[in-house]
Amino acid sequence: MSGLLAGRVGVVTGAGQGIGLAIAHSFVEHGASVVLVDLNEDAVRAAAVELGPERATGLRCDVTSASDVQYILDQAGDRFGSVDVMVNNAGITRDATMRTMTEEDFDQVVDVHLKGTWHGTRLAAAVMREQRRGSIVNISSLSGKVGLAGQTNYSAAKAGIVGLSKAAAKELAHHGVRVNCVQPGLIATAMTAAMPQRVWDQKMAEIPMGRPGRPEEVASVCVFYASELSSYLTGTVTEVTGGRFM
Ligand SMILES: NC(=O)c1ccc[n+]([C@@H]2O[C@H](COP(=O)([O-])OP(=O)(O)OC[C@H]3O[C@@H](n4cnc5c(N)ncnc54)[C@H](O)[C@@H]3O)[C@@H](O)[C@H]2O)c1
Repeated sequence: MSGLLAGRVGVVTGAGQGIGLAIAHSFVEHGASVVLVDLNEDAVRAAAVELGPERATGLRCDVTSASDVQYILDQAGDRFGSVDVMVNNAGITRDATMRTMTEEDFDQVVDVHLKGTWHGTRLAAAVMREQRRGSIVNISSLSGKVGLAGQTNYSAAKAGIVGLSKAAAKELAHHGVRVNCVQPGLIATAMTAAMPQRVWDQKMAEIPMGRPGRPEEVASVCVFYASELSSYLTGTVTEVTGGRFM
C-alpha cells in the first residue's frame, strides 16, 4: 500500500465489474475507503466483501436517478465521514449505425453517460465545496475524441462528458475541487468482449503499443487524479490508449 489515498473516501459508479471494479481495488490498495455502486447490487456487495467491510461498501444505484446518486453520497458520508473522490464510470453501449439506431438507443446511452455524469459531478461537488477539497474523475472515451462509426450516441455522450467536466472545473476550482477526465482506448473488459472479432482486429491494428489496455492501467490514472500528485491539474483529459489516435 502506497498510502497515496490514505484517509480518503472514494465513490465509484459502475464498480460491479471491469474498469470501475479495478478502480475500487486500486483505491483501497492505495489507502482509501470506497463505496462501490452499480445497477448490479450483488456484484458490488460481493466486491465489497472481498475488499473488506471496514474499507468498502457496495450499494445499488442507477446513475440516471438524481435521488439514487444523492443517496449513495449520503451513505458515503454516514459510513466513512466524507466524499473526497467521485469517479463517474458507469456506462453502457447500444452500438448501431444511424440507419438502424433507435431513438431509445440514443436516449439510453446519453442518459447513463452524460446525465449520469452530470448528476455525479454536481451532487458530489455540493459535498466537496463544503469540505473545500475534492477530486472528480469522469470516464470519457477515445470515442468521444475521434468519433467512431456505429457510436453516434456513445461518441456524443463521451465528448459531452469532456465539455461538462471543463465547465464544472471552472465553476469549482476556487472551491478547492478539481474535475478531470480519462479517455480509455481499447480496454479488455466485458464491454469490449462483446465486440465482433473483425472489429476487435481492426482496433488492435490502430494501437501503436500493439495490445489492449488492462482495467488496472485506467485505474492507476484515476489514483493519480484522486491523489495530491495531481494537485495542480483540473479540466484535463488523459488518454489511456497505448498511443491510439494520438
Ligand atoms: N472497455 C473499454 O474499452 C472502454 C473504453 C473507453 C471507455 N470505457 C468506459 O469505461 C467505463 C467502464 O467500462 P467497462 O468496460 O468497465 O464496462 P462494463 O460494461 O464492464 O461495466 C460497466 C458497469 O456499469 C454498470 N452500469 C451500467 N449502467 C448503469 C447505471 N445506469 N447505473 C449504475 N451502474 C450502471 C454496469 O452494471 C456495469 O457493472 C464506461 O463508462 C465505458 O464507457 C470503456
